[in-house]
Amino acid sequence: MHSRTYKKLVAKQFSPDFQLAIAIEEVPIPTPNSDEILIRNKFAGINAGFDTLLCQGTIPYVNLTPPFDLGVEAVGEVIAIGDTVPNFRVGDAVATTVRGGGYREYQVIPAHLAFKVSEAIPELLTLMPTGISALVALEQAGEMKSQETVLVTAAAGGTGHIAVQLAKLAGNQVIGTCSSEAKAQLLQELGCDRIINYHQEDLDSVLQQEYPKGINLVFDCVGGAVFNTCVEHLAVRGRLVVVGFISEYAKVPQIVSQPRIYHKLFWKAASVRAFLMPHYAEHMVAARDRLLNLFYTRKIRVAINPTPFHGIESIPIAVQYLLSGKNVGKVVVQFYR
Ligand SMILES: NC(=O)c1ccc[n+]([C@@H]2O[C@H](COP(=O)([O-])OP(=O)(O)OC[C@H]3O[C@@H](n4cnc5c(N)ncnc54)[C@H](OP(=O)(O)O)[C@@H]3O)[C@@H](O)[C@H]2O)c1
Repeated sequence: MHSRTYKKLVAKQFSPDFQLAIAIEEVPIPTPNSDEILIRNKFAGINAGFDTLLCQGTIPYVNLTPPFDLGVEAVGEVIAIGDTVPNFRVGDAVATTVRGGGYREYQVIPAHLAFKVSEAIPELLTLMPTGISALVALEQAGEMKSQETVLVTAAAGGTGHIAVQLAKLAGNQVIGTCSSEAKAQLLQELGCDRIINYHQEDLDSVLQQEYPKGINLVFDCVGGAVFNTCVEHLAVRGRLVVVGFISEYAKVPQIVSQPRIYHKLFWKAASVRAFLMPHYAEHMVAARDRLLNLFYTRKIRVAINPTPFHGIESIPIAVQYLLSGKNVGKVVVQFYR
């Protein structure tokens, strides 16, 4: 028997400060319609960058007016099923990636949006959609090849540590940036060829001294000054994929005044491309299946941040934690044991 209400995190107003934008609400547990299933979320993935930008109201393709629900990926258990749902049973473990479906203890969704899995483990959150983004960004936006030099920024983060492994599996020399010994340790275990802890070494100097031919593919999650350095070090026909710009999410964008970027790119026939998962939606299913296969056959490893976050109340703390750059691997919140 479960309680008749549950808690969820809601954006009540737009604010540059995530903590000021959100509130916890207690609402009745819904009954699924005929084509829906009711899921009890066990774990949800924290996407602090996306959350912050959503609560600022600065994501152009998302047209939301507060109040709106938050969180995306979750894994959990099917609790109830609509009359016409053929392929789920109560007790099934499922993974979901519905916008607004993550930061809540229960969600009701059309059954076709749930994906049956063998067990509701947090590793799956890291693959769907975080790992999918890494794979599609590298291959489609970045046109990843073999035997090239690939640089991943925020390499020990949720997205970055999957990108590092995929670039290695494709047969590349991989450089990863990070900010601590614990992160460097993870990157070493994942086979990263050159780890740059930027609190100990200067990224620009390392690239200048050790990679005089430049970097063929940059997977940049950080933006700001790191983006500038990466553009400087692109190889001939190098590609830089803007996966995110987390260094600016909690700030007003920096106004820069300098010659247009084509002055940097043109002479090397290099390019800067941006990646946004919704614009590559047709690649999602194949990427998901490949990633799950790589995970289940132990060809890639999934790192979950060791600091535990429990319950809806911990989500604002987890968001702040991720934005402070302390995390090693994917940050997740657990709703029940
Ligand atoms: N385009 C898409 O479709 C898509 C999809 C998923 C994620 N993303 C983007 O991918 C990036 C990583 O997201 P994630 O959720 O996986 O986070 P994450 O990488 O697990 O955590 C963020 C990491 O960024 C690094 N960082 C560097 N400079 C920072 C700064 N000034 N402030 C905060 N962090 C800084 C930190 O690692 P170090 O301290 O080691 O540098 C931190 O651990 C974000 O930019 C996110 O928006 C984009």
